[in-house]
Amino acid sequence: MEKVYVINGPNLNMLGVREPEVYGTLTLKEVIRMLKKHAKSRGVRIRSYQSNSEGRLIDKVQRLSGGRYAGLIINPGAYTHYSYALRDAITASGVRAVEVHLSDIESREPFRRVSVVRDVCIAQIKGLGPEGYLRALDVLLGEEKESRRI
Ligand code: DQA
Repeated sequence: MEKVYVINGPNLNMLGVREPEVYGTLTLKEVIRMLKKHAKSRGVRIRSYQSNSEGRLIDKVQRLSGGRYAGLIINPGAYTHYSYALRDAITASGVRAVEVHLSDIESREPFRRVSVVRDVCIAQIKGLGPEGYLRALDVLLGEEKESRRI
């Protein structure tokens, strides 16, 4: 069975409680459950990891090298906007990655418009809420013909 890794960065463990008007009311556990269900129907197994620590996220991404995973779905939280180290880890691991954001980072504060990981990912999906994670899986499986930015 193909495997896809899902990584969520800082503060995403607070989903459901955190700014529900921006991020919705589902908890991270519920979002991952939705994704697992979607993945199962496509014959894919999901492994999921969340950390608030940049170093731990980098360690995880590094371990994805070697081609054991069909891809990575990553929501780096605020690290999206400035972590060159996380960006380098994605490049170093050689994993096919799709960047996901629950909110539309283009239409919020100016600092959120910059994603330093965007061009090391095969697509960026934003503003679709939890649905974005499902679409990201479809992109990795080649079902979503949509271009780089959804
Ligand atoms: C986020 C957007 C980021 O700007 C923010 O720092 C997050 C969540 C999103 O999913 O919309 O933590 O990545």
